[in-house]
Amino acid sequence: MKILIDRSEVDRRIGEMAREIATDYAGSPPLLIGILNGAAQFMMALLDHLPGDMLEQIDYDFVDVSSYRGSESMGRVELTKDLVVSVEGRQVLIVDGIVDTGRSLAFVLDLVSARRPCSLKTCTLLDKSARRVVPLVVDYRGFEIEDVFVVGYGMDYDQRYRALRYIAAIE
Ligand code: IMP
Ligand code: MG
Repeated sequence: MKILIDRSEVDRRIGEMAREIATDYAGSPPLLIGILNGAAQFMMALLDHLPGDMLEQIDYDFVDVSSYRGSESMGRVELTKDLVVSVEGRQVLIVDGIVDTGRSLAFVLDLVSARRPCSLKTCTLLDKSARRVVPLVVDYRGFEIEDVFVVGYGMDYDQRYRALRYIAAIE
């Protein structure tokens, strides 16, 4: 493994993103929707950096999706855990750890937008935009990375290395 983004750089950037989100949503705090498991650590870190008065009005929930890797259904995404909260009329911010082909995020965007939120934006810690298959708008992006397989900060390799506080590339 090779460290791609060290702990202090990840922390610094998440702080910056949180300040941007706090400014954009001033007076109307968002409902955060994290995509499991990759977004969990990042979403908690974002919350750590948001101002205390905003936290009084912030809610969050999680969804989980899985994508088929088999040849026939390649690229198909399925919902494995739905939301508990209602998104209708809310300012929703979808949070993911990494956007690769974009299929997972596009799927969650469709799911949420059908439930009529009053606004809908996206946020990801890492973006491999060169690999995008489904075009989508990423409103808040932590780092643009090359087409390498990464672990850490929620990202796993066979369910391992999620808890790392830095981002590393598997060689
Ligand atoms: P997408 O649907 O192709 O955008 O894939 C997004 C999902 O694939 C992420 O939520 C991760 O679970 C997984 N993924 C994509 N690239 C990586 C990587 O480099 N490391 C770990 N997981 C990844
Ligand atoms: Mg995932």
